[in-house]
Amino acid sequence: MKFFVDTADVAAIKELNDLGMVDGVTTNPSLILKSGRDIIEVTKEICDMVEGPVSAEVVAEKAEDMIREGTKLAAIAPNIAIKVPLTWDGLKACRHFSDAGHMVNVTLCFSAAQAILAAKAGATFISPFIGRLDDIHLDGVDLIADIREIYDNYGYETQILAASIRSVNHIIEVGKIGTDVITAPPSVIKSMINHPLTDKGLAQFNEDWAKTGQKIG
Ligand code: G3P
Repeated sequence: MKFFVDTADVAAIKELNDLGMVDGVTTNPSLILKSGRDIIEVTKEICDMVEGPVSAEVVAEKAEDMIREGTKLAAIAPNIAIKVPLTWDGLKACRHFSDAGHMVNVTLCFSAAQAILAAKAGATFISPFIGRLDDIHLDGVDLIADIREIYDNYGYETQILAASIRSVNHIIEVGKIGTDVITAPPSVIKSMINHPLTDKGLAQFNEDWAKTGQKIG
């Protein structure tokens, strides 16, 4: 399972990247806003730090404007994946960039039908937003299962990038289905380590060790 970090917070990316846990980064306009940084500057800083794909999103609505914006974003670094929305204009821009040899992440996917269109338009990644489906009482994890089955049936090479991940359970569930990539906020990735039995076991070991009166080194 590839781990992308869903943030434009450079310090948070660095912390996980130093552990070798960052296979890529995803950003979006909301995350750029949260960072308080200039999109070009912060994206360049992230691309310099991380070897894998760094998604940077266009904000235009018309394909020709998306192509103009995406071309500017792609010039930041070779590891940019241009992120476009799942609209017909977005798919036109996707086809353009895919044919030109760029990585493309098609975002805001909420159905298997949309995911099929993205694959046919040459998307490198499809980003189904599972948490936002859960928010409206649908099952986001089921969508990942549907897309996995359909992509495997036809050998589509587009990678499933499970996004809008809100919990460790989301990561486990989409991992069992065989998502190619997850993108999650650093806080969710870091909380994967938590288990009360680990804490309890460690406390017991420390207590017993203190009773031995020994020291290592
Ligand atoms: O990668 C998509 C993500 O940033 C959206 O997450 O939690 O705002 O639905 P969320």
